Amino acid sequence: MVMQSEYIASWADGKRLAFIGDGDAISVCVAYLRARAIVDYGPEVIEVFDFDERIVNAVNAFAQREGISFLSARLYNCLDPFPACSEFDHFYTNPPWGASNDGESVNVFVERGIEAVGYRGHGAIVIADDEHLDWPRQVLANVQRFASDRGFYVSRMMPRLHSYHLDDAPDLRSCNLMISSVPVNDCLHVSKPVDQERFSNFYGAGRAPTVKYIREVAPPEYGKANEHEYYLEVLEGVER
Ligand SMILES: C[S@@+](CC[C@H](N)C(=O)[O-])C[C@H]1O[C@@H](n2cnc3c(N)ncnc32)[C@H](O)[C@@H]1O
Repeated sequence: MVMQSEYIASWADGKRLAFIGDGDAISVCVAYLRARAIVDYGPEVIEVFDFDERIVNAVNAFAQREGISFLSARLYNCLDPFPACSEFDHFYTNPPWGASNDGESVNVFVERGIEAVGYRGHGAIVIADDEHLDWPRQVLANVQRFASDRGFYVSRMMPRLHSYHLDDAPDLRSCNLMISSVPVNDCLHVSKPVDQERFSNFYGAGRAPTVKYIREVAPPEYGKANEHEYYLEVLEGVER
């Protein structure tokens, strides 16, 4: 994560960077490396778009607590039209990797990234890359075709860079697939809701999307244990 965050900080130095989903908090790491002057480069603006309110609130609470004015997050489901088209220069996404849908889930997230940069910019796509398996190669081919059909080419590929320790695939490796738009990209489309036929197996075999947002019940109080995790056994004679 340190290596990835430092690389993304230099890749998007001085740029407006959108994260389409960010369960790994790479957005926070990139912002914090700069805010703590560990590196003196990084994006001008970082905004996270995620359908999980716990992630959105955690990013905004962290930014506020650390006084990081250029970091923020917004609740957004990528099945809906993108709310900030052409407001960014770069995008980053580590989507559901599409083992059961030939990468359709990846393409939905990539499409929102391409809309965020207005079909003119650069994208970093973290997806599976493993020479021992067939599906990652099929997904890589489909994602590259999807991007090229929208005026983007592969500007860099960092093969088998990360090991992700997924509970259901502990040894699966992933890569950084970097894409860039052609100089004059006239493939500009209006952002539309995702068609239902692209839903099948979105989150895995037989798992189509059913959730609009993951709503947070009680925001965590930083520095305090979650009250649902313990109870106090008081001393004898002490009133509860
Ligand atoms: C689940 S991770 C994927 C991580 C890893 N690539 C994998 O395949 O397990 C993707 C991030 O996208 C978010 N996400 C999942 N579905 C989404 C949706 N429909 N709209 C917006 N964000 C979504 C999740 O909350 C998470 O932060």
